[in-house]
Amino acid sequence: MEKKWWHTSVVYQIYPRSFMDSNGDGIGDIPGIIGKLDYLKELGIDVIWLSPVFKSPNDDNGYDISDYRDIMDDFGTMADMEELLKQAKERGIVILMDLVANHTSDEHAWFVEARKSRDNEYRDYYIWRDPVNGHEPNGLRSTFSGSAWEWDEATGQYYLHLFSKKQPDLNWENPKVREEIWDLMNFWIDKGIGGFRMDMIELIGKLPDQEITANGPKLHEYIREMNEHTFGSRDLLTVGECWGADIEIAKQYSNPANHELSMIFQFEHIGLDQQPGKEKWDLKPLVLSDLKRTLSKWQTAFHGDGWNSLFWNNHDLPRAVSRFGDDKNYRKESAKMLATLLHGMAGTPYIYQGEELGMTNVRFGTIEEYRDIETLNMYHERLNAGYEESDIMKSIYAKGRDNARTPMQWDDSGNAGFTTGTPWIAVNPNYKLINAKSALEDPNSIFYYYKRLIALRRQYDILVYGDYELLAPEDEQIFAYRRNLDGESLIVACNFTDESSSFELPEDLPEEGREVLIENYEEEILHGVVKMKPYEARMYHWKQK
Ligand code: GLC
Ligand code: CA
Repeated sequence: MEKKWWHTSVVYQIYPRSFMDSNGDGIGDIPGIIGKLDYLKELGIDVIWLSPVFKSPNDDNGYDISDYRDIMDDFGTMADMEELLKQAKERGIVILMDLVANHTSDEHAWFVEARKSRDNEYRDYYIWRDPVNGHEPNGLRSTFSGSAWEWDEATGQYYLHLFSKKQPDLNWENPKVREEIWDLMNFWIDKGIGGFRMDMIELIGKLPDQEITANGPKLHEYIREMNEHTFGSRDLLTVGECWGADIEIAKQYSNPANHELSMIFQFEHIGLDQQPGKEKWDLKPLVLSDLKRTLSKWQTAFHGDGWNSLFWNNHDLPRAVSRFGDDKNYRKESAKMLATLLHGMAGTPYIYQGEELGMTNVRFGTIEEYRDIETLNMYHERLNAGYEESDIMKSIYAKGRDNARTPMQWDDSGNAGFTTGTPWIAVNPNYKLINAKSALEDPNSIFYYYKRLIALRRQYDILVYGDYELLAPEDEQIFAYRRNLDGESLIVACNFTDESSSFELPEDLPEEGREVLIENYEEEILHGVVKMKPYEARMYHWKQK
């Protein structure tokens, strides 16, 4: 396999609205990010994925873009953005922009034009349909509740919006739309960005009349075309958000021979704690062997014909330590355990802001404190459908997107040092305990543990290119796997529970000459059996004789 710079990279995701406010208006901004670049440098990451900073009316916090070539007023100016690119580069950090190309804002100039009349030259940039028997053309639903079709009174047609009605879907069948997107991508590439995270890219080949949304027939053709006209000839990182991808689809995207993307985010492990066939809000306890089977399947899927991305959480998902660990009794231990498990795997790891501090989910007392459109729409929809309010809140506590969007906890001063004003969303009350300042003062912090994991990936090729074998697949407490590369071996063993357990080391692991690369407890070992304390994680490395 041809080696790429992003094989050894670690990506850090910033959700700008919640990262750092520099001017006291309660909203994170680009100068705020610039002020924290040294913090990221200290952590050791080399790529930032910046959630959207483009002009937007913020119906969906920037995922509704009204001008792709300008910066949101709340976040700063184009000059600020250029300064961020420059200062990041000085620290050896590149920036991925978040390309939201499935839809625009309804306030984008194209849509403002398109809705003026049926024969407007931009009409066909979007997806319009006549009513059927006086109703929506079909049953397509919006991810944010309700029908995906919105009636436009003035022109007497429906338009499609797979997200909010302020996020009309672009019509990718129109070649002009595709060219417009390539142009704006090249605009940003010319500014020196490191690549793109591609929002909901799997939807661009949709066939709305057949109710096909993800993985439509022309999807890969469009991506290859985009590759050819934009980033294909440059050495960039591209990662697609692909909820509906299985391994075969993932190979289509990320096999270098296909000239599509570097890698995708797949979400199979993210669906394991919801009831099959239902929504994410319909909770089900996670079974460890399911998680092992799923992650391991993806670990062994590619042999030079694809690449994995590794993540536990992002701005749409609950906090990793609250979801997969124990954020009450073993917060530090389980946060480190989850980090070890993920960073020991094959692929490019992504860290979501605050994950390196072990930030947790939040439980606001009332719905009024929530901000996310998806959460608010679901709350009202389920209330109307007769659900108990307490059950709805339980789902929000477990899965709501605002869990990940409370402000970054910088220190123990008011509002966690995020803002001197009133934050746009309340700070998690646990900031006095969990914050960057105290993490930086504590050599045993989660922060420094991540720093060491990131450094290990640079140092040990086996972490990047080693093969993968799941050990003890049926064990419901220990998640352990082995990797091998050119006569070297590595074992990662993690206790996923709050009870002690044990793990038998493989026979070829020598008592002498094995290195412990990282551990979150002191080792207790007897006759080749390791006692695994609650949420213990260990990584061993050795050379075969
Ligand atoms: C992606 C984004 C999410 C957004 C949606 C619509 O899933 O990650 O935050 O709401 O696309 O753009
Ligand atoms: Ca601000």
